[in-house]
Amino acid sequence: MLKGKHIVIGITGGIAAYKIPYLIRLLISEGAQVRVIMTPSAKDFVTPLTLATLSRNDVILHPFNIETGAWNSHVELGQWADLMLFAPTTANTLGKMAHGIADNFVLTAYLSAKCPVMVAPSMDLDMFQHPATQKNLDILRNFGNIIIDAQEGELASGLSGPGRLEEPENILKIITGFFFQRQELTGKRIIVTAGPTYEKIDPVRFVGNHSSGLMGFSLAEEIASRGGEVVLITGPVSLKTYNPAIQRVDVITASEMFEACQDHIEKTDILIMAAAVADYTIQNPSVNKLKKSPDDLTLTLSPTPDILMGLGKVKRSGQFFVGFALETENSLENAMNKLQNKSLDLIVMNSLKDPGAGFGITTNKVTIISASGQIIKGKVKPKKEVASDIVDSILGSLNSNKTL
Ligand code: CTP
Repeated sequence: MLKGKHIVIGITGGIAAYKIPYLIRLLISEGAQVRVIMTPSAKDFVTPLTLATLSRNDVILHPFNIETGAWNSHVELGQWADLMLFAPTTANTLGKMAHGIADNFVLTAYLSAKCPVMVAPSMDLDMFQHPATQKNLDILRNFGNIIIDAQEGELASGLSGPGRLEEPENILKIITGFFFQRQELTGKRIIVTAGPTYEKIDPVRFVGNHSSGLMGFSLAEEIASRGGEVVLITGPVSLKTYNPAIQRVDVITASEMFEACQDHIEKTDILIMAAAVADYTIQNPSVNKLKKSPDDLTLTLSPTPDILMGLGKVKRSGQFFVGFALETENSLENAMNKLQNKSLDLIVMNSLKDPGAGFGITTNKVTIISASGQIIKGKVKPKKEVASDIVDSILGSLNSNKTL
């Protein structure tokens, strides 16, 4: 599957380096050509002889060959590679990559890369969780590098937690997935809304809900990874976006979300309303902080604009609208009604009664209902995988509409 692909692996000095010879075998057996570079301390964990034998290429440790004086060109390596993978990447190397320090061959190769770069961190959990490490990972993400997340589990120190290098079989899957990425959404513009909206009571209080935004953010990343141009309109959440193809618009209230959607809807091909929009707002929010009193406090709520209903009125032919329905009872019936009343082409229903589904958790269990009557019932899955299923369903509906 990887025939003709040139992959440079940069190994740094962490115990997980022991997994790399096996990864090289997997890559070679898939037909890839592999060249290994390593930091001086990496050879304390795995020998250059093993790596050279398995990769069928000399291993580069220094900017020049100490015996012959010949120069090893990091620039030439940067041009040869279709992909550079840094694994395991220690906290030390991460910090240097993030700040452009080039005091060994691996780092000069990183700075000379012309190809996509993957970084697979591995270290003890306290080092991994330290804000400095997390900040450096964010810097690399913002450079456009693909981070292969460290996994949770038993660590060499005997502690247990996040910091394990992803298993070689999974790294292979990520690499093959990367080279054969589906790009079916190239040229399509998609609005995704995410998160809650907050309706102000006074300058310090609001009415909101428990939405974390993870479903919407996972959809935005999935769409961007398939070539789509995303405008992600999000209520207040603590999540970040990673793909540069995502344009993020932050809003607070339902009205602001509606306005932002109106600003972008005309040029949009697909609208996905994953946000948990407040149905009511406070009629007269107080300008000053409300003072405590022994009396009851009554807040008068007025309905917010229904964004999908509003946009449904200006929906042009060819646009595809997706809504979400979070239900607690009569789920299917309620979702079907929303599909009809809100001019939707597809609705994603989840029930708060299902374990593993809903707000504030990393998994979801959804039923996807299309306007043509197709109903797909999913299992409990990480929201990232649910996002992929939803995008597959959207593409399935769009393709079947074309043939009508
Ligand atoms: N929605 C919207 N504007 C609102 C409220 C909801 O566009 N003011 C969208 C949501 O983003 C979702 C869909 O409508 O895609 C259904 O939202 P949901 O909260 O399940 O339903 P509601 O229409 O608000 O009805 P109810 O709360 O009574 O179930």
